[in-house]
Amino acid sequence: MKVLSVASEVYPLIKTGGLADVAGALPAALAAHGVEMRTLLPGYPKVMAALGKMKPVLQVDGGQVLFGTHAGLTLYVLDVPTLFDRDGGPYGDADGQDWDDNATRFAQLSMVAARLARGEAGWQPDVVHAHDWQAALVPVYLRYAGGPPSVLTIHNIAFQGRFTGEVFGELDLPQQAWSVDGVEYYNDVSYLKGGLASANAITTVSPTYAREILTPHFGMGMQDVIAPRAHLVHGIVNGIDTDVWNPEADPTLEQSYTPRTLARRRANRTALEAQFGLEQGGPLFCVISRLTWQKGLDLLADNIDHLVGLGGKLIVLGSGEPALEDAFTQAAARHPGRVATFIGYDEALSHRLQGGSDAILIPSRFEPCGLTQLYGLRYGCVPIVACTGGLADTIVDANGAALRANVATGLLHAPDSGPALGDAIADAVALYQTPAWVKMQRNGMRADVGWQASAGEYAALYRDLTS
Ligand code: ADP
Ligand code: GLC
Repeated sequence: MKVLSVASEVYPLIKTGGLADVAGALPAALAAHGVEMRTLLPGYPKVMAALGKMKPVLQVDGGQVLFGTHAGLTLYVLDVPTLFDRDGGPYGDADGQDWDDNATRFAQLSMVAARLARGEAGWQPDVVHAHDWQAALVPVYLRYAGGPPSVLTIHNIAFQGRFTGEVFGELDLPQQAWSVDGVEYYNDVSYLKGGLASANAITTVSPTYAREILTPHFGMGMQDVIAPRAHLVHGIVNGIDTDVWNPEADPTLEQSYTPRTLARRRANRTALEAQFGLEQGGPLFCVISRLTWQKGLDLLADNIDHLVGLGGKLIVLGSGEPALEDAFTQAAARHPGRVATFIGYDEALSHRLQGGSDAILIPSRFEPCGLTQLYGLRYGCVPIVACTGGLADTIVDANGAALRANVATGLLHAPDSGPALGDAIADAVALYQTPAWVKMQRNGMRADVGWQASAGEYAALYRDLTS
């Protein structure tokens, strides 16, 4: 079984969020299920620099597709300098402003993917797997111009690739694609909508989110597009790369540890306290997140005085909306020795926080899957999460029954509620004083968070589509 994966970010080459982790980890996980996956991504400067010399395999408008390997991945890189060779992030400039030619950039990615899918570079995939709006036109091109069956995975339905109707002229699609059944969406073009209407299968990254996106609240306008195709929707929960995230052998940690040697973990917390000038004693909470409305961190900002009042401490690693960055920076100024912030992106620090904090807070308003709670489980950093999407599917709440059965792995609270988050923080502080806490840490560390099972589900889906 050969599968072409198409993604706008792939770890370890380029990452802004969980999509990169998933696109980077799936190929190795699928290999164990007899799937050969190759991945197409844009040739951003970081990608070109990491890959060095590659082999040209296809000429395209304004550039070429290069072929190479890196960190176990087999890659096609779309090298079109006018579209991708620029400073800044994959989707926007250093100030977070979206590139004004994103419609062109990602239409080109999808158009080229469809050519690769038809074997034009000498390799014929059986299935194409497109991720999020940036690759959502792939199923559309394959539908109208022919090619293998396609899977579209929704990692986040809030991002829909919506542009003015004029963009349609650029897409080189037949006129019939400008319809309610194609890419047209309220007189605009929506890449995600087109992909959802065209893919042979739709997946999203947890079973709960698969149900949620059928409702107006979580569907964000796409629920009516998905409803008639609900039988094609599969919720397959994300796994994590247990080699990249392994507390027994993590070079960023002061001290490695296992469920049996949990006490050693304390050295990692001490190192964090020293680095961030925090006092000793009391539970240390952390946040590792994009600072956006989705993540519900405004609710946490409002709860910081409460958290500190209970004897807790907090380190926030993240960047995003200026108002949230300011709120956390101000909280740190208000509570020296108790609250610290690192505004920015730092992969190594994210590991150190998982390996040294007592708990990770994830109060998301919606969360298709979420990966940081899975890293938390693996590292004995107890997840305190909103009961939504993949968070609800991956954490066992420390209610009385779960504690008695010794199966709890974290704390769940009602989403979008400051008081519910405040109660969860209070419950965590109380549990932290009891033997139940260490049991929760161990349960989490022993939970199955790898890719094995979910990769099997993807492999079965690919086989269904080709049989
Ligand atoms: P999302 O994709 O919605 O941002 P996920 O939980 O799926 O949420 O994935 C987020 C990924 O990005 C995780 O790997 C997390 O560790 C990482 N991450 C988020 N913010 C930062 C940051 N400021 N520094 C380092 N890593 C971060
Ligand atoms: C998205 C979602 C996140 C998910 C990630 C990877 O960015 O917001 O919940 O874990 O994609 O699938």
